[in-house]
Amino acid sequence: MRIAMVGAGYVGLVSGACLSDFGHEVVCIDKDADKIEALRRGQIPIFEPGLQEVVANNVRAGRLSFSPDIKAAKGAKAIFIAVGTPTKADDGQADLTYVRAAAREIADIVNDGAVVVMKSTVPVGTGDEIEAIIADRAPLKRVSVVSNPEFLREGAAIDDFKQPDRVVIGVEDEDGRKVMREIYRPLELNQTALLFTSRRSSELIKYAANAYLAMKVAFINEISDLCEQVGGDIQDVARGVGLDNRIGYRFLNAGPGFGGSCFPKDTLALMKIAKEAGAPLRLVETLVEANENRKLAMARKIVKACGGVKGKTIAVLGLTFKPNTDDMRSAPSLTIVPVLQAEGARVVAFDPEGAKSAKELLPDIEFADGPYSCVQGADALVIITEWDAFRALDLARVKAALRQPIVVDLRNIYRREEMIALGFHYESLGRGRRGDKARRS
Ligand code: UDX
Repeated sequence: MRIAMVGAGYVGLVSGACLSDFGHEVVCIDKDADKIEALRRGQIPIFEPGLQEVVANNVRAGRLSFSPDIKAAKGAKAIFIAVGTPTKADDGQADLTYVRAAAREIADIVNDGAVVVMKSTVPVGTGDEIEAIIADRAPLKRVSVVSNPEFLREGAAIDDFKQPDRVVIGVEDEDGRKVMREIYRPLELNQTALLFTSRRSSELIKYAANAYLAMKVAFINEISDLCEQVGGDIQDVARGVGLDNRIGYRFLNAGPGFGGSCFPKDTLALMKIAKEAGAPLRLVETLVEANENRKLAMARKIVKACGGVKGKTIAVLGLTFKPNTDDMRSAPSLTIVPVLQAEGARVVAFDPEGAKSAKELLPDIEFADGPYSCVQGADALVIITEWDAFRALDLARVKAALRQPIVVDLRNIYRREEMIALGFHYESLGRGRRGDKARRS
């Protein structure tokens, strides 16, 4: 099937490339001509493991192409909208400017009987609005507007697209259902569940799923703080809780708070939608606030571990919001590092992929070209992102390089007993003094 993907960012590029890998003929369209030129030269503008190969294979097979012009979508049976829906600065709502613009442009070139597929994460009811925009601009064309939210994790996006737990499809008519079933037939053939719902249910599923995942993370982070007070070990607690298959062990790793381009944006948008609808989601409101406070609490933990950071050099390993991505959006480091600097610290950082985008966002930090040069001469080491490259450091070498053997591990990469035995002053998350009596309050 001929498919057009409007928007060649994280979601659009991964989705377009994977759909072409299913055998469809896909053109990815983006207004950013430089991005299109780079893609045509085989350069992938984002770091996503495996994407380069999927794109190259399908470009070579003639199934995947790129264009800066919406006219390239002419004749497509399905046109996906995968443009950004950033958070509006003033009120936390999702900004639909790009979505509406795409809908207007599509209305002018879309074929009668085609399907417009909302892939971007949009507030409940946006599908109705897109349908109205297209009907208004192209009254003589029968166009089905469908919701098909993505559940792609950055760094695992290819697998998440090709082996999804489910495909959620919000349709309002039979034509839309038929086309979407044909698009995802390769997945249906291997028993992937295609869940057909109304458009609004589909839009809500995306927000509710992300908010629930964010809640799991925020929950275990709070339990981690409790462990520090009552002497529990958060990794044991998370494992014990997660082994209950009604709960599941994933998204129960304590950390410095969640970031990324989705959790922060989607929880905020859902909160606003619910408040406006007169059904406020107090749990979501609470987790949003708890998450922001946590990032600041992490900075305070570092300052405390160092006995103050004024005039000291802090080595930071990991800046991106999680490993295997170059994405810095809402990364905890963007809150933590400026606080350390405000307290008088000099920060030297290393991140395998994030340095390029971090340079614009954290202008006053220095960048090392590897973990060991990063810690050389520093007064403390802080691990913010759990890249594999930081999981098996030569700890004797790290200790020798540090001016003071202080390590603050915000991802519990290392074992507390081992670090203490090596002579580090080791701070981590949710690992109260083993055997400590519950503190007398
Ligand atoms: C998320 C959803 O997982 C995905 O389904 C949706 O489509 C987009 O948003 P992503 O933002 O790429 O994907 O990252 P994810 O792996 O979900 O992690 C989100 C944040 O939670 C990261 O900051 C991560 O560090 C944090 N996290 C995740 C934890 O702190 N602990 C965990 O156990 C899991």
